[in-house]
Amino acid sequence: MPEEIRRVAVIGGGMMGHGIAQVFAMKGHEVSLLDIDEEILRNAMQRIEWSLRKFVEKRRIREEDAEAALSRIKPTTSYEEALKDVDFVVEAVPENLELKKKVFAKVDELSPPHTIIASNTSTLSITEMGRATKRPEKTVGMHWFNPPQLMQLIEVVRGDDTSDETVEAVMELSRSLGKTPILCRKDVRGFIVNRVLGAVFNEAYWAYHRGEASKEGIDSSVKFSGGFPMGWFELSDYVGLDIVYEVGRILYQAYGERFKPCEEVIEPLVKEGKLGQKTGQGFYDWRKGRPRIPFDLSDEYDYERSWAVAVNEAAWLIHDDVASPEDIDTGMKLGTGWPQGPCEYADRRGLDKILGKLNELYERYGMEMYRPCPLLREYVEKGWTGKAAGRGFYKY
Ligand SMILES: NC(=O)c1ccc[n+]([C@@H]2O[C@H](COP(=O)([O-])OP(=O)(O)OC[C@H]3O[C@@H](n4cnc5c(N)ncnc54)[C@H](O)[C@@H]3O)[C@@H](O)[C@H]2O)c1
Repeated sequence: MPEEIRRVAVIGGGMMGHGIAQVFAMKGHEVSLLDIDEEILRNAMQRIEWSLRKFVEKRRIREEDAEAALSRIKPTTSYEEALKDVDFVVEAVPENLELKKKVFAKVDELSPPHTIIASNTSTLSITEMGRATKRPEKTVGMHWFNPPQLMQLIEVVRGDDTSDETVEAVMELSRSLGKTPILCRKDVRGFIVNRVLGAVFNEAYWAYHRGEASKEGIDSSVKFSGGFPMGWFELSDYVGLDIVYEVGRILYQAYGERFKPCEEVIEPLVKEGKLGQKTGQGFYDWRKGRPRIPFDLSDEYDYERSWAVAVNEAAWLIHDDVASPEDIDTGMKLGTGWPQGPCEYADRRGLDKILGKLNELYERYGMEMYRPCPLLREYVEKGWTGKAAGRGFYKY
């Protein structure tokens, strides 16, 4: 545990907040878990107890550790109580900038001057939240993945005003919690993982929309031929189509035509309230459990197309100085379970091959998502085509 961060407050005891509180408590922190609703807090504590019991059953922790962790979490509806003597705050209230700014301002007012204030936002501006406080240099993004108790990855996001000390403290704090942090050096929409994933989802939606492959065919191909853990439609359903839709909209606003969303595919489902696994229906029917993806359609879609747009977006992240190849690869492997990161993949496959694929797709469809990033062209022109050449995204 970093010396200076002992007491923690988690604001919002929903899906993410309760899990985040549990992780801190399991590592010995005193945690206040704050929500506006007593009933939600009771529920959160029950979910934490259930999860701790699972850890004990799986022999990951001892019974007494579970009890101790539980006793360190104090549920409360009082901001004053939660923020007294706190060293670190992470908010996980609903994804709404105005709400988050209000929460940041309140935390700023009620917590000690040294306290770092972090947001678990998936897409919103850390800088704007920070500027709602009088300590923007002590505000930062700390983006956890669901479920926080099990997922290894944390994206640490530097806002425009975040200090080096704050970034370092949160990177170290994440490591001390047993997590692997990656650094998103700029406050850009989608950060690292959702940006790469957004590109891949879009490619699949457009291919489906154009009638080039069925959703089962795309999912079968990426899973059984491509080696990805889930198909893109299956994963979209799992994440929640309302979230996928909203993130897609934000990426489009931020990056323009490169992220032109395929609204015809996703919007009707969202409007009908078919949001995926959580509502029982989405692209697939989940009412009887996980959809079965047919093995025999595994050559219906060229999964190299998923890699091509993923590598292209990774190249944009590097081009824009948002992230390193290492962090992009770590993010995609730990955040989404990909067998390899896009930079590793490109280096093995050959950047010239990826560039060729993107050029071919761009010529065929004329869509910006296929237009190769200048960095990719530059690397290939310099002969940095990957592992075989001794230099690609990485040096060998
Ligand atoms: N669900 C995911 O998979 C996921 C993953 C990563 C990040 N996130 C982000 O985490 C945040 C929370 O998401 P969630 O899925 O846990 O949402 P959720 O709706 O499950 O939980 C939000 C909680 O915040 C509480 N709340 C609302 N207003 C509040 C206030 N003013 N003060 C204190 N508590 C308040 C609500 O009562 C609710 O319990 C969002 O920013 C989301 O984008 C979600």
